[in-house]
Amino acid sequence: MNTKDYIDFFEELDDEDKLNVRLGTDKRRPYQRMTRKLIQEERQFVGEQDDSSANFRFTYKAARFEEWWLLESLGNFYEHQWISDVLRRLKGGKEASVYLCRSGAAVAAPLVAAKVYRPRSLRNLKNDGQYRAGRGDLDENGHVIVDDGALHAMKKRTAYGEELRHQSWIAFEFQTLEMLHAAGADVPKPYAMEKNAILMDYIGDLGNAAPTLNSVGLDPDEVQPLFQRVIHNIDLLLSNQRIHGDLSAYNILYWDGDISLIDFPQVVPPEANSAAWTIFLRDVTRICQYFASQGLRRDARKLATDLWTSHGHKITREIHPRYLDPEKNEDRHLWEKQKTEK
Ligand SMILES: Nc1ncnc2c1ncn2[C@@H]1O[C@H](COP(=O)(O)OP(=O)(O)OP(=O)(O)O)[C@@H](O)[C@H]1O
Ligand SMILES: [Mg+2]
Repeated sequence: MNTKDYIDFFEELDDEDKLNVRLGTDKRRPYQRMTRKLIQEERQFVGEQDDSSANFRFTYKAARFEEWWLLESLGNFYEHQWISDVLRRLKGGKEASVYLCRSGAAVAAPLVAAKVYRPRSLRNLKNDGQYRAGRGDLDENGHVIVDDGALHAMKKRTAYGEELRHQSWIAFEFQTLEMLHAAGADVPKPYAMEKNAILMDYIGDLGNAAPTLNSVGLDPDEVQPLFQRVIHNIDLLLSNQRIHGDLSAYNILYWDGDISLIDFPQVVPPEANSAAWTIFLRDVTRICQYFASQGLRRDARKLATDLWTSHGHKITREIHPRYLDPEKNEDRHLWEKQKTEK
């Protein structure tokens, strides 16, 4: 495995999915600027897993780097009999690629989906600061990080700190799936988490993965019940102190008349994040936009307001200074603006 394989693999993924990656006009440059040192760190990060999964071989014909990446990221799932084979790549997303796997003995269902995150340096990061505010960070066991050294490393964004943040991002997705699944929400059942990947129920069948709702034209008689179902899930999330944060018809799977909400790493706590209301309103608005395209019109702001206030939350546009970083220009400007608006 050399640096070029590593970079080429993700560039191909981006081209393949025609993603709007935020790399500026010259796509190659940010990757080429990556030093060997950073790549070594990445390899160490995923490579620290034990190598007792040395026998792991799979059906899916992966590109050279991708194969290494999958062996490193999914080796422990294989070792613990969560999966027995990787069958194909379902989708290469901006942050992760999702693979269809044959289950191992530890899972009752025949197929599972593995969401394998891109290495930290090649993730097309959402503006994650906005989502992280007020939610703490989780370690690889899903526990809140309280260790001073770790907190300092994350604040200073050292290589170690960045690793922890990457892990925390994944842990939030897994923990949220666990919590919501236990609460009866329409989400894939999560099975296991590793440093770089999560394993969950696969929605679809051997031939076809479930499409995302945005690509589905609903029958007229299923529009209203499915809308109610989505709103019920949003309400359940609020009851569990979570806002999805990136909800839209693109993050809802549709299969056999049922829906499954996916893609949770950016979840936001409604209480502690001062941008929470704005994020929540955006989620509800996007859902209403999709259902409007299916002939169901709802006032998104009113609906969002009713849901939000029914959980005792206040509607606020102001960002508390606690969540602003004085070292960042944009945050300082926001603070000045808020002061003059008063
Ligand atoms: N459990 C699942 N079963 C079937 N397909 C899935 C499952 N989870 C994810 N997918 C497929 O993989 C795609 C990417 O998953 P997800 O949205 O979680 O990752 P992402 O990297 O955030 O992607 P994007 O940037 O496109 O939103 C989904 O749009 C869906 O097509
Ligand atoms: Mg998604």
